[in-house]
Amino acid sequence: TYIVNDNCIKCKYTDCVEVCPVDCFYEGENMLVIHPDECIDCGVCEPECPAEAIKPDTEPGLEKWLQINTEYAEKWPNITMKKDPLPDADAHDGMEGKFEKFFS
Ligand code: SF4
Ligand code: F3S
Repeated sequence: TYIVNDNCIKCKYTDCVEVCPVDCFYEGENMLVIHPDECIDCGVCEPECPAEAIKPDTEPGLEKWLQINTEYAEKWPNITMKKDPLPDADAHDGMEGKFEKFFS
């Protein structure tokens, strides 16, 4: 599966949802997650994210993010249509420590 990591937090550009063939993105207040059981591993969303927040879970160190995507995909609503990024998206792109400050 692919997962969304903390680079999405406070950016939420939503380019990813437009290209997913199985509509497996779910929306929290400050970030999206992918439903790992629904993702078909096509990989088309990865290059679409301006914040480089989407990775295959085969990359090392992403266990925490696989867990978060799994948990919150069950709790948050599905999102299939692109919308405006969060207001200060560009300022938050690449910022460190976003999970601790802003995860929701
Ligand atoms: Fe959707 Fe493909 Fe991205 Fe999985 S890898 S979330 S199926 S676009
Ligand atoms: Fe987040 Fe990137 Fe999608 S910032 S909403 S994963 S395009």
